[in-house]
Amino acid sequence: MRLKEYGKSAQDVKALVHKYMIETYERYDFVCERAKGMYLYDEKGNAYLDFYGGIAVNGAGNCNEKVVAAVRDQVGDVIHTFNYPYTLPQALLAEKICTTLGFDKIYYQNSGTEANEAMIKMARKYGVEKYGPNKYHIITAKGGFHGRTYGSLSATGQPDNACQIGFKPMLPGFSYAEYNNLDSFREQVTENTIAIMVEPIQGEGGVIPATPEFLRGLRKLCDEKGLLLLLDEVQTGWCRSGRIMAYMDYGIKPDILSMAKAMGGGMPISAIVTSDEIAKAFSFGSHGTTYGGNPVCCAASLAQINELLDRDLAGNAKKMGGYLTRKLRTLPHVKEVRGKGLLIGIEYDGPFGLQVKHACFDNRLLVTLIGDRIIRLIPPLILTEKDCDKAFGILKKASETI
Ligand SMILES: Cc1ncc(COP(=O)(O)O)c(C=O)c1O
Repeated sequence: MRLKEYGKSAQDVKALVHKYMIETYERYDFVCERAKGMYLYDEKGNAYLDFYGGIAVNGAGNCNEKVVAAVRDQVGDVIHTFNYPYTLPQALLAEKICTTLGFDKIYYQNSGTEANEAMIKMARKYGVEKYGPNKYHIITAKGGFHGRTYGSLSATGQPDNACQIGFKPMLPGFSYAEYNNLDSFREQVTENTIAIMVEPIQGEGGVIPATPEFLRGLRKLCDEKGLLLLLDEVQTGWCRSGRIMAYMDYGIKPDILSMAKAMGGGMPISAIVTSDEIAKAFSFGSHGTTYGGNPVCCAASLAQINELLDRDLAGNAKKMGGYLTRKLRTLPHVKEVRGKGLLIGIEYDGPFGLQVKHACFDNRLLVTLIGDRIIRLIPPLILTEKDCDKAFGILKKASETI
């Protein structure tokens, strides 16, 4: 939909949103009418350099041609069927993901939080059926983020974050340990524990990569105690970290893995993958979703994943991430630049985040903010050195105004 066709100005659009929508987002002050590659465009054709990628979603670029073609192609054949008939996009995508990652089975959902709900439910059911009714406890990490529905929110170890304030009580059956502290997790294990659930890089929690000792240690701890290792790769998955999945950097494999965001190229789809044995916890009627595995989303996802893999966008994420990180470390007022691939956090030495974000926006660079001092960069993975140089120039100018 274009503003001109509807006789609307940008002011009209903003006014309608403020009047009718329940607002939980701090918006960039422009109307996005089109998006292509590394740029978003307003109704006047002004271009905004995209360093947030729809929050780590548009991995193969905004409106990637292959994804657009796949959606157009499928949308005219079947938009929605529910999961009663078989459909080709579901089948081909299942094969692609399972064979690429080396898992036996996949279950489709629609969003990151729902994939995590499925992961939590599967682990609990597996635990109580195999070991007894109390074997459903899950240890997660403080500072982690797993989503905003009650299971995932309860797994989110951030009691003082706005996402939890006013929504308590959380679900029972979760305990929280220190991220990157193996002893802290070990201490929390009880006879009722069935699983440990973490992100390989804490994204919303401030862009904190797991240390190799920690993640490998968790795998070992799970093996010793008969626990499941659940990895949430909703944000890190599908090439963002410089590997297809971030866990691959650590030489370990989870028992259940959740994914979303980049897998759909902008269409709402998510999934969990696991082994034949664990997958048996879900049987007819035990779990379900109206839209999960929607054929248009599956067709888009297949095109997106093919793009990410065929163009080695994990390799590009690693290369460009390294290039950009080296430059960012020279910025004034920067305490630390951390992350992996193209999930980068710039931590300032004071609460300058909002100021930097606004100064970037004034120069048409879109970045995201975590807390009041971390700027997070999660651009499409197709970016070039030229894009990095341009973004760096704007960030430098913004940091120099502090
Ligand atoms: C690691 C992680 N898990 C889960 C979620 C929730 O995903 P969604 O917003 O699609 O529900 C997010 C969202 O940022 C995330 O970063």
